[in-house]
Amino acid sequence: MKYGHFDDKNREYVITNPCTPWPWINYLGSEDFFSLISNSAGGYSFYKDAKFRRITRYRYNNVPMDSGGKYFYIKDGDSIWSPGWKPCKTELDSYECRHGMNYTVITGEKNGVSASVLYFVPLKTWAEVQKLTLTNNSGEVKKLKVFSFVEWCLWNAASDMENFQRNFSTGEVEIQGSVIYHKTEYKERRDHYAYYSVNVPVQGFDTDRESFFDLYNGFDEPQVVAEGKSHNSEAHGWSPIASHYIEAELKPGESKDFIFVLGYVENNADEKWESKNIINKRKAKETIAKFNTSSKVDAALDDLRKYWDNLLSIYTIDSGDEKLDRMVNIWNQYQCMITFCFSRSASFFESGIGRGMGFRDSNQDLIGFVHQIPGRARERIIDIASTQFPDGGCYHQYQPMTKRGNNDIGGGFNDDPMWLIFGTAGYIKETGDFNILDEMVPFDNDPSSARSLFDHLTVSFDHVIDNLGPHGLPLIGRADWNDCLNLNCFSNDPDESFQTTENKTEGSKAESVMIAGLFVVYGRDYIDLCIKSGKSAEADRAQKHVEAMIATIRKHGWDGEWFIRAYDYYGRKVGSHENEEGKIFIESQGMCTMAGIGLNEGLCTKALNAVKERLDCQHGIVLNNPAFTKYYIEYGEISSYPAGYKENAGVFCHNNPWIMIGETVVGNGDRAWEYYRKICPSYLEEISDLHKTEPYVYAQMIAGKDAYKPGEAKNSWLTGTASWNFYAITQYILGIRPDFDGLLIDPCIPTHWKGFKATRKFRGDTYRIEVLNPDGKSKGVKTVIVDDLPYKSNLIPVFGDGKEHKVKVVLG
Ligand code: BGC
Repeated sequence: MKYGHFDDKNREYVITNPCTPWPWINYLGSEDFFSLISNSAGGYSFYKDAKFRRITRYRYNNVPMDSGGKYFYIKDGDSIWSPGWKPCKTELDSYECRHGMNYTVITGEKNGVSASVLYFVPLKTWAEVQKLTLTNNSGEVKKLKVFSFVEWCLWNAASDMENFQRNFSTGEVEIQGSVIYHKTEYKERRDHYAYYSVNVPVQGFDTDRESFFDLYNGFDEPQVVAEGKSHNSEAHGWSPIASHYIEAELKPGESKDFIFVLGYVENNADEKWESKNIINKRKAKETIAKFNTSSKVDAALDDLRKYWDNLLSIYTIDSGDEKLDRMVNIWNQYQCMITFCFSRSASFFESGIGRGMGFRDSNQDLIGFVHQIPGRARERIIDIASTQFPDGGCYHQYQPMTKRGNNDIGGGFNDDPMWLIFGTAGYIKETGDFNILDEMVPFDNDPSSARSLFDHLTVSFDHVIDNLGPHGLPLIGRADWNDCLNLNCFSNDPDESFQTTENKTEGSKAESVMIAGLFVVYGRDYIDLCIKSGKSAEADRAQKHVEAMIATIRKHGWDGEWFIRAYDYYGRKVGSHENEEGKIFIESQGMCTMAGIGLNEGLCTKALNAVKERLDCQHGIVLNNPAFTKYYIEYGEISSYPAGYKENAGVFCHNNPWIMIGETVVGNGDRAWEYYRKICPSYLEEISDLHKTEPYVYAQMIAGKDAYKPGEAKNSWLTGTASWNFYAITQYILGIRPDFDGLLIDPCIPTHWKGFKATRKFRGDTYRIEVLNPDGKSKGVKTVIVDDLPYKSNLIPVFGDGKEHKVKVVLG
């Protein structure tokens, strides 16, 4: 069953039934000020860091689900309703939520009144703007009472949920005209406050939650709204909120706009106060003034649309399949930008207080947005590399505000270093900016230790070969890409975290074939970077290590029909036919086939056939098989999950693309495409009831074939799935792949495709690409025609003239 439809022209998903199987959300903001908003206006805002600068309060996993948000209550006679259906849940005559590129419009209609709210964060603005449009579609005059509502968070989202003995006494507000200011802790160490304004005089306000709702009412029945007038309450401690009360009279056919601004301000220490205890409101007033008319708001929305027009014009395709086009042209790219902004911090599955920015995650996310905002990708690479240790190891995470490594989790995840090579090479292939390699970058944020970024890549590469185990394969450390395969953890204490406990590294023989494959794939990028930088001796040295690793994988990483996953603490095989459970894993098949290990001898084909036979199911490729049915202390968290979920045989959408790319290495475009389609959200729209999460973005995991409910997705939005699927479809299946010296066109498409068209802006030029497939092939370029002339290779050069160039590629 569907709950809405795509509107590709406007780049929107239109939800027409508010009772979606899970809150279907969107993100507002692209730089500093962010909001999450569900299809019924649930969600919250924060400035930069969802933990330390939470502006409005939100209760995760609540009853009912998705409680708290940016609500409007409309009282029309005795009827009280909200445009997003929730929280009042009054049955609406019509409802629609349009999630677009960083904006959302929620419209409800009841008894001839339509209320439409546009929510967005204008570019370069530390505020969310809400434009409420009321329209009287009835034949009579309407006298409406409107109440806005947000609940302030006391800044630190974690202590806000636990330290009530303090919190209930600290809350402070100021009210001036139609603006409510939240200034808790401003008088001591904070240099920031928040505000909520409306551009018309108000008939009343409330800032104390208990006065607004009454102590025993829910979000659905505020006392004030039932009474039809504000209490003009002033919060002192307890839970401060902000609510405006406006009376609006509308003639038949009349429409009125009301503009609300929810903003954040920082003041220097010497500018904090206007007078004793009265905060300096200058910056707030400046922002409010920027958005105090409808035309100013509309112009700001227009700027936002242009910003997205531009970002989404860099890679577009016309494949003839609208489900594919809308993913590649719109939603997959959008999700990549969202994961760039949020990493794994704040979604409806990530509470915003748990994780910082992952070292490996952030590098992988980069390949999904580097073509859109290369400057910010560059900055991100430097930030990430600055948290690396001098021996090439890395903090597993760093904090977005301080940009420092996170000591709580520390390091020791031995795949982390290689991802820096992946991210940096991806950036240079896109931009041609080799100068980044000369940037001086500190280790562990200590400026005195700064070395060139190139040196950081060298220590990354060396970290793998300096940490080899008894078979010559890379030691896994705390874990590799699979955070839940904890081969040195041995935890039997439920109060211990699998992620932070490492009981037995000393003397461990645990090795990872996944890291070995990763080392081969991106070690080759490192070699190329050495050659391009004129470091031929280093290139030779690296080449020898890569070759040695290939030989080692063939000797100790091959199980006869597929690649082994690892060796455990005791040196026993993991992911082998010898194991009772977990005989085969996806990660090593993905990495080793991407590396083309044993390609000519048929190893890749064999491994991929084993994936098809043992891991593939109706909903995608599961992570391992058979699923673990009991807890294996020597494997850790992976075996803690019930069969079919998460890393224990769930369809982990992040690494399905590794197999898709592996299939393109062997030239099987039909299979690559089959795997792509299976997990691609736009193809799952019809089964939204089962799939549960948004049909416009990927989820991290879909329950696998061993689960109670195969096909049910969880953890949508913030996942490396976004960038990996974009990378697989655009660079390997469609095959338009930036390379150091040009744009490679090497598609691997399903045999039934007749071809496709694409436009790719690359290093200042625009390539209008047409791929033709007259002979029903998957892979192999027969002829290339550039600007109407035959061209010698499928590596199309950088013209550097800023012009359009026609590229025609015929497969055969
Ligand atoms: C983490 C990744 C990890 C993956 C597999 C994700 O939740 O963000 O860093 O590689 O899980 O465990």
